[in-house]
Amino acid sequence: MNAMTYSDTDTGTRPARDEQPAGATRRIVVLTGSLRRDSYNHLLALAIAKLLPADFVAQHIRIDDLPLYNQDDDQDMLPQAQRLKREIQAADGLLFVTPEYNRSIPGVLKNAIDIASRPYGTNSFAGKPAGIVGISIGAVGTAVAQQHLRGVLAYLDAPTLAQPEVFLRYTEGMLDAWGDIHNDSTRSFLQSWVDAYVAWVNAVPARRR
Ligand code: FNR
Repeated sequence: MNAMTYSDTDTGTRPARDEQPAGATRRIVVLTGSLRRDSYNHLLALAIAKLLPADFVAQHIRIDDLPLYNQDDDQDMLPQAQRLKREIQAADGLLFVTPEYNRSIPGVLKNAIDIASRPYGTNSFAGKPAGIVGISIGAVGTAVAQQHLRGVLAYLDAPTLAQPEVFLRYTEGMLDAWGDIHNDSTRSFLQSWVDAYVAWVNAVPARRR
């Protein structure tokens, strides 16, 4: 029997790495895996955005208006899908803020990832430095979902910050609607993660198309 391995992963076109001028603004595209109105992960995304340095800008992009991914649409993607791809392609870094659903990532987030990874040869994630954080009401604090997401992003050639990790369990009053953190130890823990993430994005210049 022929031993054949098949992978349909692709890394898109690969121009030379950007040489960003010192002091240039870094655009961080934030994908939040919950559509819930009062989502804790949305609050966490706001909180992390506030901890970024002045030369980093967080762009919270929408994924709630995307169609369900259908490979038949690859050659004629809806405007929302094209918008998603453009937003990701223009990013200097990606930030995934996700709940855990049934020990994995929510379908809405996987749907957005599938859309932006296609059509074949135009994977929008290729070379984008990514960070993953999450908050849940469960004791494992999204650890299993994050591990699944790391596997997906590795396949899509998006290098992810390995350490430190952020597995948060929501407690009442921890975060407010403006993204302020009402707990000193949580704020300083998240700031240390943001500092590592910022260094990671600066160290791995995103490939742009
Ligand atoms: C959950 N929740 C959950 N929590 C967890 O820690 N591990 C899990 O596997 C799951 N599974 C799960 C499945 C589904 C379908 C729902 C709706 C919820 C609970 C989850 O942590 C909680 O609903 C959070 O509030 C979801 O995050 P947002 O929406 O507040 O950001």
